[in-house]
Amino acid sequence: MTTTVQSADASQEYVFDSSWDKETERLITNEAIWDPGTFERFEKLGVSEGWHVLEVGAGSGAAARRLAQLVGPTGRAVAADLKTVRLLEDQKKGTLDVWEIDIREDELPENSFDLVHARMLVQHLPGRQAVIDKFVRALRPGGLLFLEDTDSSTLFRSASGEDFLQDVRAAGYGLMREAGHDPRGGHVDLELALASGLEDVTAEGRVVMVRGGSEQARHYQLWLEFMAPQIVAAGLVTQERITEAITEMGDPSHNWLSQVQISTVGRKPRTA
Ligand SMILES: C[S@@+](CC[C@H](N)C(=O)[O-])C[C@H]1O[C@@H](n2cnc3c(N)ncnc32)[C@H](O)[C@@H]1O
Repeated sequence: MTTTVQSADASQEYVFDSSWDKETERLITNEAIWDPGTFERFEKLGVSEGWHVLEVGAGSGAAARRLAQLVGPTGRAVAADLKTVRLLEDQKKGTLDVWEIDIREDELPENSFDLVHARMLVQHLPGRQAVIDKFVRALRPGGLLFLEDTDSSTLFRSASGEDFLQDVRAAGYGLMREAGHDPRGGHVDLELALASGLEDVTAEGRVVMVRGGSEQARHYQLWLEFMAPQIVAAGLVTQERITEAITEMGDPSHNWLSQVQISTVGRKPRTA
């Protein structure tokens, strides 16, 4: 397992390691937290038969698969990611077009999509405005950009106590920030969307109450397990405390708030 922390510049690596043996489970449990709200918003935005849609940073693919169902055989659903190994079955079945791309470097076809969606991607990237501008160019006139990124300030807030898991949150998110992750990514999306010339820009947030021991809680256990070697090496928290925190997350008597997931939506003007 490699867990390199680098400073935030254009050449920085994505903080999570795609080849970690638990990365697929980390991505699937992330979907368990956020998919219901994302899918509701797809319906509200009117994604339907015949649309051409692009999911960027598709991860394990659940959002792209949902989009493919909504657009049906007359539409087109493309799933793009740095690593597409988790999408190869869908590509084989022909349900998704799969593009292995680095969105920082690679171009997208212009004026091609009715919807571009990216969840928990932009908050990890350097050069965010350039990426948003690329998304806007990829939209057809009248097409929708739908970004989802978080504000991490609510994470682990709980009736269990003011300091519940706050030490590991501060340590893990501090290191992620050094590696280029923005803990206020959802707020930044709104500013970038407004600056990109989109119309009818709106933003709203949702949080999920997570029950200890659930599939959703497992995501946070895996996040901490992944970050643990860096946290311990930096002397921020001991391995004993990390083990204790992972046990606390497995206890159904604990309930806590997720991050705030901020959904930003804007429309590309129909006329230039
Ligand atoms: C935090 S995960 C979120 C996955 C998925 N969107 C979700 O919400 O379930 C971020 C995803 O973005 C991908 N990613 C990171 N940097 C990328 C880049 N520069 N270009 C394309 N994809 C990237 C990662 O490989 C990973 O699958």
